Amino acid sequence: MCGIIGYSGNRQAAPILLDGLASLEYRGYDSAGVGVASVGSSTHIAKRSGKLSNLISSFNGSMPEGVFGIGHTRWATHGGPTDCNAHPHTDCTGDVIVVHNGIVENYRSLRNELIERGHEFSSQTDTECVPHMIEDYMRQGWTLEEAARFVSQKIKGANAFVIFTTREPGRIVGVRLGNAGGIVFGQSEDGVMLSSDLPPLLRHTRDVTFLNSGEMVTADAMDVKLSALDGSGIDRNPTRIIYDAVSAAKGEHRHFMHKEIHEQPLSMTNALATRISQQDLSVNLPEVAGAASMLDSINRIVFLGMGTSLHAAMLGRHWMENIAKIPCEYDNSSEFRYRNPVLGPDTLVVSICQSGETVDTLAAMELARDSGARQITLCNYIGTQATRIADETILLRAGIEIGVAASKTFTSSLIALLLLAVDFGTRRGTLDADRRREILSETRSLPDLVDSILENEDQYIELANMLERQSDFLFLGRGLGFPMAMEGALKMKEISYIHAEGYPAGEMKHGPISLVDENLPVLAIAPRDSLRDKMMSNISEVRARGGQVIAVATEGDSEIADLVNHVITIPAVSEISNPILVAIPMQLLAYYTAAQRGCDIDQPRNLAKTVTVE
Ligand code: G6P
Repeated sequence: MCGIIGYSGNRQAAPILLDGLASLEYRGYDSAGVGVASVGSSTHIAKRSGKLSNLISSFNGSMPEGVFGIGHTRWATHGGPTDCNAHPHTDCTGDVIVVHNGIVENYRSLRNELIERGHEFSSQTDTECVPHMIEDYMRQGWTLEEAARFVSQKIKGANAFVIFTTREPGRIVGVRLGNAGGIVFGQSEDGVMLSSDLPPLLRHTRDVTFLNSGEMVTADAMDVKLSALDGSGIDRNPTRIIYDAVSAAKGEHRHFMHKEIHEQPLSMTNALATRISQQDLSVNLPEVAGAASMLDSINRIVFLGMGTSLHAAMLGRHWMENIAKIPCEYDNSSEFRYRNPVLGPDTLVVSICQSGETVDTLAAMELARDSGARQITLCNYIGTQATRIADETILLRAGIEIGVAASKTFTSSLIALLLLAVDFGTRRGTLDADRRREILSETRSLPDLVDSILENEDQYIELANMLERQSDFLFLGRGLGFPMAMEGALKMKEISYIHAEGYPAGEMKHGPISLVDENLPVLAIAPRDSLRDKMMSNISEVRARGGQVIAVATEGDSEIADLVNHVITIPAVSEISNPILVAIPMQLLAYYTAAQRGCDIDQPRNLAKTVTVE
């Protein structure tokens, strides 16, 4: 949450910072600000509440000048989303300029100490104590780098900062403390750039270096140094990123989310490429060979994730238990990390974290690592913190996702989880060769089938016309349909702001049925599978009470079509593959409903794509 950025080089900093912030805005959009300077000049700070566009309009076409600087896009935690709480923040002299991501947990006591020493504060943020503390150290003769080190040792919590001072022109310092979002830097012929995330960097270079917790980077235009908080130097080779810079243009699409939904045939093809051998239809996942060779010593698998990635974890558990017959559980990372879970070398932890930076998933993974559990992570970005904690990484290969609500990273996660289950089932002998070939041959056809679902988009516009004035929505599913009901409800609430609940259909008579009347839309996930007849009964129960039902059913299932108010069909596939296809109608239904309601689909209110604070 919050995007931070810094640049020092031979070009004007403001346009580079603003361009970078535009590609970081998915991390928060409560306010935006930049601070830039040149050698011998004073610092220009500009900041505005609201979206980055407010800040840009305030320039009236004339950008502040300077060849180094920092920028920020905010997701407010401490202090409302006002102009004065917007970053950058400065010390009393205006010489030390800071942008911050995270929470300084002991800021109240630090602030009181500083006020007692005569410092004056102008915001309600936890951030502002940082430039004041740096000012104090620098007044004693320490350099910016040294002062940043001392301050890092005094503040509590997970935090990341980017700082500069006019007293050391051209120098930008970045610090990462704990798991409050990353700092990654890269160098090009134009200079050095630091950022919380990859999109701004990829416009300049594909060779990037991620900071670990307790590390800092000092960038001087053409020179860059990585060090630990004790001052010792660190040698780390840059990581080459496989993705291109994301085009700022949405092309023919109104929103990035729409573009990303439509990219799924390609992103799924990439997720599958090289991972299914053509000759004998077997899984080829060399990246998990270590964990796979230890399967005999593992007696359970725990799948972890948050948000959409938690729904992927739920499906991962289902596939793994059914195909590889290994006892499995899934958990929400933020619950798991605090419940003293029983963990040890006989547990394999599989985390799903597309960003590689979700604070609760990282903490759960650290807990697992410290207790000796083996770990695989599914992540979209190599080099991020999750990939460094895990023993092994399965890359999602989805390409960069900008829309806050996950779409293509979800289907790529599902592909990876299914392949992992097939791989483990094959190794353990729980999956025979014929069945394996059947599953994998169908898996290979999924991108084309998704394409065919995407060709039939108009029905969602009609449905959205019907749904736009609803205030509540119930999603029901059983078995593999239950995580998809959860995912459908999550998509609906996060982008359309319609209250939506996902329930196992069997639970309906234990509460939710009392909500059913002619005003409550119910979406029933009922493709052909072993529980489809049970779903039919649940649908009948809703219809008998006047409820309006939209069903997601298999093509040709006229029985369901006759029973419900509207049917969305998916191509006929086996039970295992159904959820991957069901994902698409869930995304399109939420997308078109949100569009019809005029919602800000790529940047829904109060949300951020990467959640780096608890
Ligand atoms: C946020 C995003 C979701 C995402 C979740 C987990 O809530 O809005 O789209 O599913 O974080 O993200 P992760 O990076 O851990 O997969």
